Amino acid sequence: MSTPLAARPRVTPPSLRAKKARGEPVTMVTAYDYPSALAADRADLDAILVGDSLGMVVLGYDDTLRVTMEEMLHHARAVARARPRALLVGDMPFLSYQTSVVDAMRNAGRFLADGGMDAVKLEGGAERAATVHALVDAGIPVMGHIGLTPQSIRALGGYRAQGGTAAAARRLLEDALSLEEAGCFATVLEAVPDRVAALITKSLSIPAIGIGAGAGCDGQVLVFHDVVGLQDSLAPRFVKRYAGLLEEAQRALEAYGRDVAERRFPGPEHAYAIPDEEWDRFRRDLEADPPVRLPRKAPVAW
Ligand code: KIV
Repeated sequence: MSTPLAARPRVTPPSLRAKKARGEPVTMVTAYDYPSALAADRADLDAILVGDSLGMVVLGYDDTLRVTMEEMLHHARAVARARPRALLVGDMPFLSYQTSVVDAMRNAGRFLADGGMDAVKLEGGAERAATVHALVDAGIPVMGHIGLTPQSIRALGGYRAQGGTAAAARRLLEDALSLEEAGCFATVLEAVPDRVAALITKSLSIPAIGIGAGAGCDGQVLVFHDVVGLQDSLAPRFVKRYAGLLEEAQRALEAYGRDVAERRFPGPEHAYAIPDEEWDRFRRDLEADPPVRLPRKAPVAW
């Protein structure tokens, strides 16, 4: 018999590492608000990332560069209110950690203290080792993110796969090893050739969670809106859509609009009733003593 969801222990960084040791895939999805976190929890996924992708899929920005700490915290709190069993990871937005270790510490601390997150994620490899070290020393669990790092799209020249040459693949492996050495409990590998990602995964003792990095990773992460089909403007090849909620929402709203326009909604089942004797008393009182502010000359059809 399966354990009821509420009775399952919360997922922690050590329990994710234990999953890797047992050879069990890690399941992760992004969420940005209370209902998406509830859905992820009911689906019993291991980790929820409040990703800075919220800038694009929720706030309508062109990229993730404009996302602020305040926006991230606002959404993190909404996700945390769902009290999911999953490990909650807050994504450090652009310039919240690249500027100094002190800024990184302050902002990562806010994710845990004010945002209800269990851990943070930041982008970058060996160049982030000192920051990761300091955060981990302060008791803040850190997830790395290498390969395609969307906060560097200006430098990378666009959203393209990384690690496609021997030299670039080696740099990625070295970055992954530096993150593990600095204390990350897991790392995301984004848009990395599958053989390179599989080799990196085998070289690490921490889980490597892939997105566009093939089947050889220890786990997978996807953006909520991609999985459920709530956005149709971007379709990277690594996305698998499991539902079409945008079309479904449009169909529902069109049907609602038609029902209102053609007076099919609301029906009697959607209305509240007043008892007959109260209704009759109300009308008698109105006729005997109309409210002063009603135009007395015009006949009123009660
Ligand atoms: O912000 C995000 O959604 C992410 C995932 C793509 C890993 O960083």
